[in-house]
Amino acid sequence: MEQFVLSVDQGTTSTRAVIFNHAAESVGSSQKEHEQHFPQAGWVEHDAMEIWRNTREVIGRALADADISKHQLAAVGLTNQRETTVVWDRATGRPVHRAIVWQDIRTQGICDELARAGAAEAGESGEAGASGEAGAADYDRFKDRTGLPLTTYFAGPKIRWILDHVDGARERAEAGELLFGTMDTWLLWNLTGGKDTGIHLTDVTNASRTLLMNIDTLDWNEEICAEIGIPVPMLPQIRSSSEVYGHGDSRSLVMDVPLAGILGDQHAATFGQACFEPGQGKNTYGTGNFMLMNTGADIVRDERGLLTTVAYQLGGADPVYALEGSIAVTGSLIQWLRDNLGIISDAAESETRAKRVQDTGGCFIVPAFSGLFAPYWRPEARGVFVGLTRYVNADHICRAALEAVAFQSGEVVESMNASAAAELEELKVDGGMVVNETLMQLQADILGVDVVRPKVIETTALGAAYAAGIAVGFWDGTEDVVANWSEDRRWVPTWDQQERTRRMKQWRKAVTRSFDWIE
Ligand code: G3P
Repeated sequence: MEQFVLSVDQGTTSTRAVIFNHAAESVGSSQKEHEQHFPQAGWVEHDAMEIWRNTREVIGRALADADISKHQLAAVGLTNQRETTVVWDRATGRPVHRAIVWQDIRTQGICDELARAGAAEAGESGEAGASGEAGAADYDRFKDRTGLPLTTYFAGPKIRWILDHVDGARERAEAGELLFGTMDTWLLWNLTGGKDTGIHLTDVTNASRTLLMNIDTLDWNEEICAEIGIPVPMLPQIRSSSEVYGHGDSRSLVMDVPLAGILGDQHAATFGQACFEPGQGKNTYGTGNFMLMNTGADIVRDERGLLTTVAYQLGGADPVYALEGSIAVTGSLIQWLRDNLGIISDAAESETRAKRVQDTGGCFIVPAFSGLFAPYWRPEARGVFVGLTRYVNADHICRAALEAVAFQSGEVVESMNASAAAELEELKVDGGMVVNETLMQLQADILGVDVVRPKVIETTALGAAYAAGIAVGFWDGTEDVVANWSEDRRWVPTWDQQERTRRMKQWRKAVTRSFDWIE
């Protein structure tokens, strides 16, 4: 009987299940959106129970779509929106609060307080670089140990917020009654039997986004946990990205199938794009844009707004590291044009409209809806439109939105090139927005390097399938990933260097307008 690998991609807006054959072709899939809760400006929440229900539903539908039974599954891989934080009751299996999503900025106060405490401590100990003066703040105090700046993006401050705001939660977490997990951990725990037999673990890539893991030793840093206020007993065990963690239980629809791969979604896409050599990178166009560049065994410490993260770890092999440029708002800007402004009825219309005009009519949109992430890390930034005249219409606005996506990635590539030894020679792209050819051409023009789209743009789901399939011997190793990767289309730059410099300068000027909105 032919065998397959099932991949569950639990993303920010939807959950997908995709079934791949040995040639890495998708033979069946299903997708379901979940509700986005916005209880206050800047807050974003998901219902983790809804996501678990959707996961079971899409697994069942994907099996039906592929017309196969679970007995034909060699393994299941999981990939997920990263950083989104769930805290649940081990005994009942119920979350104690809605999941706090990576885009949510409610923890700014916690981050400010921790940054001030860090600066004061460094001042007292006479450490160079920190002033220790009242009001000073050190947002990089955990960077050496974790690879990350102290911002609202990561899970640690979100866990702290839940423990501070749910009655009795801290005591219960200290007693080991409450568990923390990102979506990979939540789904694995449920797929392996939940409150009865659930396995509580995560992989190195997801753990590397919590602000709690030592980037070099890949274990929890108990000192940082204590400083942020996170009881260690609630944290999952950290494991590699590719090994058999356990098997599906009877309610999971994948009973007895090995659960054998976990990668955060951006790491999965890097894997699925076969970026196995240092200097190879990819850019995923999803809710946000996330560019990862493989740095091999080197833990590259960056000063230009990039994050140091674990790209993947296969079983007992050494981990492979990456630099990451995270952009919070790209695809979600197009959703916002659709849902909040109503100027398009679907994402495809953003391209139709953008193509009707030659330029943006002088208008720029800086979509700093969650502050600005890489390379600025300015939480106080807020979205702005600049350069408006009465001439500007909805077509220009759509074009400006696509330009905003491409300019933001342009800035990340500049940081990557300055940071890593090798200059990016071409950019591999994937994610939902890469069907937008106008955007891809703009991206090539802004970067000045070729933009290359693979045949399979589902590289996130595919990457997790590979991690699981390799663990059980369905695929031999990364050489199979390289052999299966093939190019679909390439966009070549048409702007000259002068034009690129001029347009980038204008964009940067627009960005500065988003900085000083909040006093
Ligand atoms: O870090 C957040 C990222 O993992 C979200 O990805 O694809 O759900 O927008 P996506």
